[in-house]
Amino acid sequence: MCGIMGYIGRKDGYPIVIDGLKKLEYRGYDSAGVAIMNGTLSLYKKQGKVNQLEQYVHTQKTNGNIALGHTRWATHGIPNDANAHPHRSQSGRIVMVHNGIIENYAALKSFLTTKGYSFQSDTDSEVLVQYIEWYQSTYQLKIGEAVRRALGDIEGSYAIVVLDSMNPESVIVAKQDNPLVLGLNEDEIYIASDANPISTYTQEVIFLQDGECAELFDDGTYHIYDLENENVIPEITTVKCCDENYSLEEYDSYMLKEIFQQPQSVEACISPRVDVLQNEILIPEIDNHKRIFSQAGKIIIVGCGTSWHAGLIGEYLIESLADISVEVEYASEFRYRSPIIRENDIVIAISQSGETADTLAALKLANEKGAFTYALVNTEGSTIARHSDVVSYLNVGVEIGVASTKAFTAQVSLLTMIALKIARIKGTIKYNEYKSIVPQLSDLPGLIAQTLKSNDLMLEVAMSHFEKDHALFLGRGPNFPVALEGALKLKEISYIHAEGYPAAEMKHGPIALIDENMPVFVIATNSSALSKMISNVQEIKSRKGQVIVFKEEGQEFPEEITDHMVSIPKTHELLSPILASIPLQLFAYHAAKLRGCNVDQPRNLAKSVTVE
Ligand code: M6R
Repeated sequence: MCGIMGYIGRKDGYPIVIDGLKKLEYRGYDSAGVAIMNGTLSLYKKQGKVNQLEQYVHTQKTNGNIALGHTRWATHGIPNDANAHPHRSQSGRIVMVHNGIIENYAALKSFLTTKGYSFQSDTDSEVLVQYIEWYQSTYQLKIGEAVRRALGDIEGSYAIVVLDSMNPESVIVAKQDNPLVLGLNEDEIYIASDANPISTYTQEVIFLQDGECAELFDDGTYHIYDLENENVIPEITTVKCCDENYSLEEYDSYMLKEIFQQPQSVEACISPRVDVLQNEILIPEIDNHKRIFSQAGKIIIVGCGTSWHAGLIGEYLIESLADISVEVEYASEFRYRSPIIRENDIVIAISQSGETADTLAALKLANEKGAFTYALVNTEGSTIARHSDVVSYLNVGVEIGVASTKAFTAQVSLLTMIALKIARIKGTIKYNEYKSIVPQLSDLPGLIAQTLKSNDLMLEVAMSHFEKDHALFLGRGPNFPVALEGALKLKEISYIHAEGYPAAEMKHGPIALIDENMPVFVIATNSSALSKMISNVQEIKSRKGQVIVFKEEGQEFPEEITDHMVSIPKTHELLSPILASIPLQLFAYHAAKLRGCNVDQPRNLAKSVTVE
């Protein structure tokens, strides 16, 4: 993972780099560092977050028209000052930041050791900067050529920025399988892992392609070439200015802000796709490819984490409405078996960030096999969006909290619309049913606002259970993935061990875990499964489990077998997973806060997982 920010031009680069790193902290936040060129090359790095780096640097001289910065998510080597980037070559001449993994670093390190090199860190990245120096000094190469030759020997993935103190008017950048964006202005160039931190300054960008290197000069000119040293004419793209509001407003965390934004974010996802007057769903990505969608052999959905959970709900929706067989795959597993993908299959890749390495790799495999690929992503211009045949954006704005909340409800909303749209094209849904569900989509934002009123109750539930070590989440049908998602939210931000299960599976094993210390969250908003869920709850209560039931308003549920009952506004059964997931987000948030956890930046995690 890791975030890279750089500047070369006429201004002071340091404040620009620090501002950009703060926007890139979603990619990792265990240590951070900067290198600044101001006649000499100054380097500062520190374990901890970007604001800790800022405090560490604040008494230092930071002016200089070239600056590189890095915010790290550790792969090789623990988070500490030495392993933080930038890394410096043995002579001190070359400095580099890296996002990715150098898979053959051990062999290169042994080679360099025989040549007299020693290492200050445990990272694979330091091996690369030393290797670049070895090329440069052994063959007396210019820095750009040394980088190009060194990269020819590299196995793995990288986005790098390299600074040579003997060439203080330029920097070298290169990328393979990790993103790097160049922002162009008249006499300056910005470098970043995504376009957001750049778009504050310029909207003209180049998304560097795999296998490309570039030399960027301090007068704003550049030269792009590939690893064979052939010149590349880049495509210049105009991105939207990221006018996102990064302020917390009245909230104590981005996660809480994003949970409470959901009426607006779901509205932003749904309303451009619903023609209220005609009562029709409009998805150009499907409307323009009707034949592909109506004749699809099967749909394969790939994603990771929360996006995978959304995919599981999508499977339920598409199979029941559109009568197409759907497989949902962990993107990380997909390409390591021999998945059967035929040319009339559709592969849907779901990703909030659009940068998840596993999902991208699965998508590339689907492209190679000739499937029609369809990305559902949030980040415009992201790599997954650019590698798909068609893309539908979630439109929910930047999601900053590591725990995905507003992206999940938008993903499920979008998948619901996709299922309905395909069903309409194929004629697998009765016209009256279609006409009755579509207006209910438009009612969702209001119902989400009502559901958020469960906040105080979820605080009360959290106060009863935040000291527990384990929790179970149960659901049936489309609420089973909601249970999985509730468990994931809880474990990733509160560090309470949690499991999600299909309710009926409980008796095949997990029931052994139930005692008076086990809270069990039962998502029972789907009335078709209500009587069976009541039986499951009886089984839990008979074993002294503590039961928190989520049911639909107006549904009868025996109070004597529950410890807490949470009512969710009534909606169409297919839409209820969207509402049911919200109190679970609130529970995870409150439990984590009560345990003193950092809900926005939980330990060991990063928002965007760009390594395998
Ligand atoms: O950006 P993506 O949707 O591809 O990310 C996938 C997962 O890494 C992500 O959903 C992760 O599980 C979240 N931390 C869950 O809250």
